[in-house]
Amino acid sequence: MTVSLLPLCAFVLALTPGLAAAEASQSMRIATYNLRYDSMPDNITVQQSLASLPDPLQQYTFFGKKGEQPWSTRRIKVWENLESEGVVLAGFQEALVRQVNDLAELLGDGWGWVVGVGRDDGVAAGEFSPIFYKKSDVTLVNNDSFWLSNTPDVPSKFPGAGSVRICTATHLILHSGGGEPVHFTYLNTHLDDQSDDQRRLGASMILTRARYEAWKTKGPVIVTGDFNSPATGTDSGAYQIITGQLPPVAINQTFADKYAVPKDVLKNFTMLDLKGQAPRPAVSGNFATYTGFDAPGDSSVYSRIDFVYGGSNGLWTSTAYKVGSSLTDDGVLASDHRPVFADITLH
Ligand SMILES: *[C@@H]1O[C@H](CO)[C@@H](O)[C@H](O)[C@H]1NC(C)=O
Ligand SMILES: *[C@@H]1O[C@H](CO)[C@@H](O)[C@H](O)[C@H]1NC(C)=O
Ligand SMILES: *[C@@H]1O[C@H](CO)[C@@H](O)[C@H](O)[C@H]1NC(C)=O
Ligand SMILES: *[C@@H]1O[C@H](CO)[C@@H](O)[C@H](O)[C@H]1NC(C)=O
Repeated sequence: MTVSLLPLCAFVLALTPGLAAAEASQSMRIATYNLRYDSMPDNITVQQSLASLPDPLQQYTFFGKKGEQPWSTRRIKVWENLESEGVVLAGFQEALVRQVNDLAELLGDGWGWVVGVGRDDGVAAGEFSPIFYKKSDVTLVNNDSFWLSNTPDVPSKFPGAGSVRICTATHLILHSGGGEPVHFTYLNTHLDDQSDDQRRLGASMILTRARYEAWKTKGPVIVTGDFNSPATGTDSGAYQIITGQLPPVAINQTFADKYAVPKDVLKNFTMLDLKGQAPRPAVSGNFATYTGFDAPGDSSVYSRIDFVYGGSNGLWTSTAYKVGSSLTDDGVLASDHRPVFADITLH
């Protein structure tokens, strides 16, 4: 992925201190979506899937399909959902390299993506936490990845964690509407499903990095992810740390030093759960973001573990928040998670 230099230069110029207009504001819809890894791989190409889509006027056999379907079926639903919801920036979780490539093919040339790295080897093995952005609205400035472990610079697993865990970090420019573009930081992650200690560490590292970016860039900071941590209960450590209800845990000192901020600066910095920040009528009814692949109406595993957060340094307004649906009338669940859509104005 390369970024055309010409528009980038224009934006960098526009962002030069002193030239940036104080009233700059830009709006976007951002999504976070755990795609469920490709657990039933097949060799069906994207083009084959597209060619076999049913006539849109044809009625489904309602709930004819049950349980998990192959990614080759689910990917079409994911794509339709992103396009129809007008998303311009999306953070995914559990995407294997095939899934990243399929989404890139479906979304087409109008989209760019930061794959980060496959978490298992730092190249292409294992799940990615990729970030996709619509090039007409968002420009990528730079990106990096870090592991949510005791050795953040190298592919590594936290002791006791179920999997290797990473965070994909980006500096982006939003230019969705007229007026001055807005420069911001966006981090996307997937915390461990088994170790609450890993989740606490991950949340503490991300909070440290987010605070650093808030100080360094003086701009808005957005975090999305599957935290595998609800807001309350025994697994809530990560949520409570990132939202400032619990103190962070000790993290790798090299990382802490690299992302330290001057003493007494942004001392109480936290990330705010945007679902609680949007105007009440603009918050959709669905609560759970994890639903499993159970039949409609079976809520036995439902939980809210996927989040969109904004930094407490502000410079954003949360205008709407929606937990969508992965289920369509044919009974196909696009994922065992629901997509989360947040409308944000950046200042
Ligand atoms: C996919 O194609 C490869 C190469 O033709 C083959 O080895 C593999 O078994 C196929 N996988 C499935 C799930 O059909
Ligand atoms: C992300 O950063 C890496 C390392 O700096 C770079 O090689 C890569 O090109 C960047 N990705 C994109 C999409 O620009
Ligand atoms: C902290 O992280 C750095 C960089 O990944 C690594 O070199 C160092 O050994 C880590 N410290 C400890 C105590 O593991
Ligand atoms: C930061 O938090 C501490 C402890 O909760 C509080 O005493 C202090 O007033 C806060 N500072 C700011 C600037 O909000």
